[in-house]
Amino acid sequence: MRRLRKRSLQPLFTENRLDVHDLVMPVFFDETAENPVPIPSMPGQYRYPVSMAGAVARDIRRDGLEAVILFGIPKKKDAAASGAAAADGVIQQAVRAMKGAEPGLVVMTDVCACEYTDHGHCGIVGDTPCGPDLLNDPSLDLMAAIAVSHAECGADIVAPSCMLDGMVGAIRHALDAAGHADIPIMSYSSKFCSGLYGPFRDAADSGFSFGDRSTYQIAPANGREAMRESMLDEQEGADILMVKPASWYLDIIANVKTLGMPVAAYQVSGEYAMIKAAAGQGWLQEKTVVLESATCIKRAGADLIITYFARDIARWLR
Ligand code: PBG
Ligand code: ZN
Repeated sequence: MRRLRKRSLQPLFTENRLDVHDLVMPVFFDETAENPVPIPSMPGQYRYPVSMAGAVARDIRRDGLEAVILFGIPKKKDAAASGAAAADGVIQQAVRAMKGAEPGLVVMTDVCACEYTDHGHCGIVGDTPCGPDLLNDPSLDLMAAIAVSHAECGADIVAPSCMLDGMVGAIRHALDAAGHADIPIMSYSSKFCSGLYGPFRDAADSGFSFGDRSTYQIAPANGREAMRESMLDEQEGADILMVKPASWYLDIIANVKTLGMPVAAYQVSGEYAMIKAAAGQGWLQEKTVVLESATCIKRAGADLIITYFARDIARWLR
């Protein structure tokens, strides 16, 4: 085997190469911020004020990246998530400003309500025979309204992450009816109920006040269930399937890939925080580990990698 591992021959036989086109940078916009606010559990990441959206778009393009996914923190939260679909909501403003500054930047938006609800769950909550819980069908109209409002502002791809049954179908229907038949849906189809979202919930101020997300997100033990959900989302009209988190779920990425759809993988906040924490201690070499993790996510089958390291990777690749 070592004949082909000679240094001079290694590049010829490299099976997978990271490419800047594979990367999507998540960005947080905070309606209450006046300056970039550092996120303590995600060193190097910030919540940006909406007034900086154009500048952020230009900086990201300058790093060579082509795509972002946006998350918003509204001024005010309520039970109905009324900030989420507002025409002048934080994400709606950010999308307009980013597309205005950098029309060529692909702007994806997270479609969910957990940053906008006062209880922190991903949609409308109400009483059920098993106690208070996320209500499925009453939340679908809200998701459809959020997705349409993002598309109206110029979002290129909408990415519903609430894990409601029927969410992709409801959003597809609403987008088509509103004249946005050309806007693709990237479904968070294999979204696991993971402890690795902890730092994100600090960042987006989206921790929940009761219960957990296990009545809508998939249990980490359930790989076949992720395939069923992926196939349903495909039938409902998803254009891209997502697996989230990424590094502990490479088997899911490889299995979902067999469906033949484009696959995105989300290296989540906890994966970022673990690497940052160990690297900060000098226990891991950050660049080596980050490039290894992203390459392995690609090897597993991801066409797109959503990662907080996207800007670093883009700079290292140049
Ligand atoms: C919203 C959403 C979450 C993430 C992306 N979209 C949080 C959650 O489900 O609690 C997590 C991203 C990350 O941890 O980086 N539904
Ligand atoms: Zn949510």
